[in-house]
Amino acid sequence: MKTQLIFATNNEHKIAEIRSVIGNDFSIITLQEAGITIDIPEPHETLEANASEKSRTIYQMTNQHCFSEDTGLEVTSLKGAPGVKSARYAGEGRDFQQNIDLLLKNLEGKSDRTARFRTVISLILDGREILFEGICEGRIATDQKGLQGFGYDPVFIPDGATKRFAEMTMDEKNKYSHRKKAVDKLIQYLQTKDL
Ligand code: IMP
Repeated sequence: MKTQLIFATNNEHKIAEIRSVIGNDFSIITLQEAGITIDIPEPHETLEANASEKSRTIYQMTNQHCFSEDTGLEVTSLKGAPGVKSARYAGEGRDFQQNIDLLLKNLEGKSDRTARFRTVISLILDGREILFEGICEGRIATDQKGLQGFGYDPVFIPDGATKRFAEMTMDEKNKYSHRKKAVDKLIQYLQTKDL
């Protein structure tokens, strides 16, 4: 029988990305499918603390295996910003486009456009927590292109690629993706467990 894990997110893009790589031994249940309608806050100063808060909240509510992830875009010449505040870089309630606009504005005139996406996954299995990290190095383009993906995908070019994430299919993005790398570690760990 497949092992069921609740993925503590309401982000459809993240769910699709993780389902595309999770494999046949596991089934992912979304918060919505688990009947959970709360919006879990991300109040902390690190990706690790936010990811932990989300998975612990869901574990306390359900007592089931679960995991969460938190991702940030860390731009070298902006001292790691927007980082843990990536979703609300341009302010609370702002959308992806406003965040991109502010990022491009803040990078005007800067020669170093290197950046990385960093994902932290917090897994809670039988009440015990373990963290996994995935990093994708790359750079921020000077303009935006592409319609796939979400967030900062139209301006992020991963190292080794000539296209932005937003110009890639999901399979192409998965060759480079921070989230895919973190999920691969999660899967490897789950496969060592007798669930
Ligand atoms: P979250 O807090 O983990 O939901 O992610 C914070 C923000 O980072 C999101 O709202 C997106 O703007 C951005 N983000 C996370 N993952 C990606 C990605 O794979 N591509 C582009 N942007 C992303």
